[in-house]
Amino acid sequence: MLIKSLSAKGFLLLTFSTVFVGTIVAQEKKSQDRLVSDAAIETKIDVLIKKLTMEEKIGMLHANSIFGTAGVERLGIPGLMTDDGPLGVREDIKEGWASANLTTDSATFFPNGSAIAATWNPTLAYRYGHDLGEESKARKKNIILAPAFNIARTPLCGRTYEYYSEDPYLNTRLAVQAVEGIQSQNVAACVKHFAVNNQEVERGRINVEVDERALREIYLPAFKAAITEGNAWTIMSAYNKLRGAYCSENSYLLQKILKGEWGFKGAVISDWGGTHSTVNAANNGLDVEMGSDPPYNNYYFAAKLLDSVKAGKVSIKAIDEKVRRILWVIYHTSLSDKFTDGKINTPEHSKTAYDIASESIVLLKNDRHLLPLNLSAIKSIAVIGDNATRTFHLGGFGAGVKARYEVTALAGLQNRLGNKVTINFAQGYSGVFKQTGPNINDETSKADPAMIQEAVAAAKKSDVAILFIGGNRDYESESRDRRDLGLPFGEQDLVDAVTAANPNTIIVVVGGAPYDIGKIKQNNHAIVWSWYNGCENGNALADVLTGKINPSGKLPFTFPASLGQSPAHALNAYPGNDFNVKYKEGILVGYRWFDTKRIEPLYPFGYGLSYTTFDYTDLTTDKKTYKKGDVVQVALKVKNNGQVSGKETIQLYVSKPHSVVLRPEKELKAFAKVPVDANGTARVSMKFNVSDLAYFDETGKKWVTEPGDYKILAGSSSRDIRLLTTIHVTR
Ligand code: GLC
Repeated sequence: MLIKSLSAKGFLLLTFSTVFVGTIVAQEKKSQDRLVSDAAIETKIDVLIKKLTMEEKIGMLHANSIFGTAGVERLGIPGLMTDDGPLGVREDIKEGWASANLTTDSATFFPNGSAIAATWNPTLAYRYGHDLGEESKARKKNIILAPAFNIARTPLCGRTYEYYSEDPYLNTRLAVQAVEGIQSQNVAACVKHFAVNNQEVERGRINVEVDERALREIYLPAFKAAITEGNAWTIMSAYNKLRGAYCSENSYLLQKILKGEWGFKGAVISDWGGTHSTVNAANNGLDVEMGSDPPYNNYYFAAKLLDSVKAGKVSIKAIDEKVRRILWVIYHTSLSDKFTDGKINTPEHSKTAYDIASESIVLLKNDRHLLPLNLSAIKSIAVIGDNATRTFHLGGFGAGVKARYEVTALAGLQNRLGNKVTINFAQGYSGVFKQTGPNINDETSKADPAMIQEAVAAAKKSDVAILFIGGNRDYESESRDRRDLGLPFGEQDLVDAVTAANPNTIIVVVGGAPYDIGKIKQNNHAIVWSWYNGCENGNALADVLTGKINPSGKLPFTFPASLGQSPAHALNAYPGNDFNVKYKEGILVGYRWFDTKRIEPLYPFGYGLSYTTFDYTDLTTDKKTYKKGDVVQVALKVKNNGQVSGKETIQLYVSKPHSVVLRPEKELKAFAKVPVDANGTARVSMKFNVSDLAYFDETGKKWVTEPGDYKILAGSSSRDIRLLTTIHVTR
């Protein structure tokens, strides 16, 4: 096509189309490259399998140290070198889980999972993965045991802080990006815990009964996307059972769904000590048995497996398939020419931690505009609470990080305020955790009157009081669920006393899961929610409190006004009886329950305020009627009414009136986080596939896209719907 003259619009169109075509070509090349390299890898694997003895093959299938498996030195095959975890690359651990006390294994402490989710920013999830992958490589780990993203079914689950959210779509968008980020460094992500590991009570033997529709619509989507979109190279089978079979030997989960329907080519790694048999596990889809207690030759996948092969109970073909998967991981990681030095504890990684933390903090209430702090008028601040000086990189049971540094809330304020303001510190309460029983957190510490008195004195002599309360990494932990939603350590008494002493009291709650802060919502006027927010925690908090950062976090799960409102508890479907738990709520998890049952929560899913306000206008879709294979393009405008720039997360929910099946009142199908200048307007576009509107039909065992009208709701939270339109899907 000869182009003689171009209007400006024509030039833009041409540029766009050139770029667009270029992008397609680049993507084509990327997938072609992947196909070529995959075929080359397959050929290499075929050659190696022929050379390996059966003993060598079996040696690759089970742990030979607390985080590793044996390689085959004579053939140049390295072993698997795994490490935790979602918060950062864990310090080196000895058998028995004691620290190896090295001086060379510090790493960056990244914000916890629900903090990443509260950013509603998939780009930050990618950066988190990228940096975690770089640090894993620097520590010579070719598998990082992250990301973890089981659905937050009960707010009491001890690992809610590690996971993302109660919504499968938000989980999916973050999980795919985290996996792609990690694997961009030729380190394998290990997505976990597959599947329905939604409580810690009796996690090692609890059997989950969940209907197929809820499994497919709620609990599997993020795992499916991590595999089919994110191309995760490993996945960790969960401790629990699903429908009577342990996840580590569950043929339906591992063979039919994961390896069959989803075409997973990587390796299934058991949770540590989560393997329960030799023949069953070997024939039903487990590839690697991990554990922490030697002697490793006693493992199910060691001598017992060799005997089972010799006895014909496990085929050589099955063993070769496991070895093939492990070699697939090794060729993409430690045998890849890109498995180079990596980087660790860099300023760039600290910046990622800061950016996540600063976008995760949620402004819950500010009705007297105590925030941001007016530093021209304030001469003294009382900083009160154990969480003002506590660090969160270590604690509880399970994975932590030996952080090279962590800026506490107090240190952050000191960094930012310097000597411009007098800071009067009082600890206010002790967050020392006293646990007696297994499985349930039975911490019962009460307030200390002397500590409260000291805090009140600090508050009285200060212009403003900032209270740092909430949970901590001992109080919220793997291996035990919380007993209730209450604030621990007698904190409410402290809040009451300090608030009475100083009307300018600001409450900062630190936690990884919902707490009952109903009394605080009623009595206090400035409430900020923060998280176990990584090494830059204190700097990010100080920047939000002083207004350098306009808060943009939104809650990734519902805060119930009381535990009984929450579906698993309302239906007496937690923690189960006789090691059985039935997910009676089905698909109505989180806001799906609250909205469908018209229950008013304390704070809704997707809620978060800003130092400005936003108005939504002009919600449009590119068509009014769609066919089943179509993409729905949605556009709207967002106006920033204030004098400060900010970021707003517009949430797009879909509702299906008069459906042939039970449907939640609304479901999240898209979201976009956009910066909007002061007094500015942003044009926002989002899209979703018509097929995303499908429900899973249990009878036909397939996804069904129902024809008819659908409501499209644009909201600032699941309970703050600003605009609505309708589309029609034809038969
Ligand atoms: C733990 C956890 C898992 C972790 C593994 C190794 O019990 O369930 O998330 O990666 O063991 O520490």
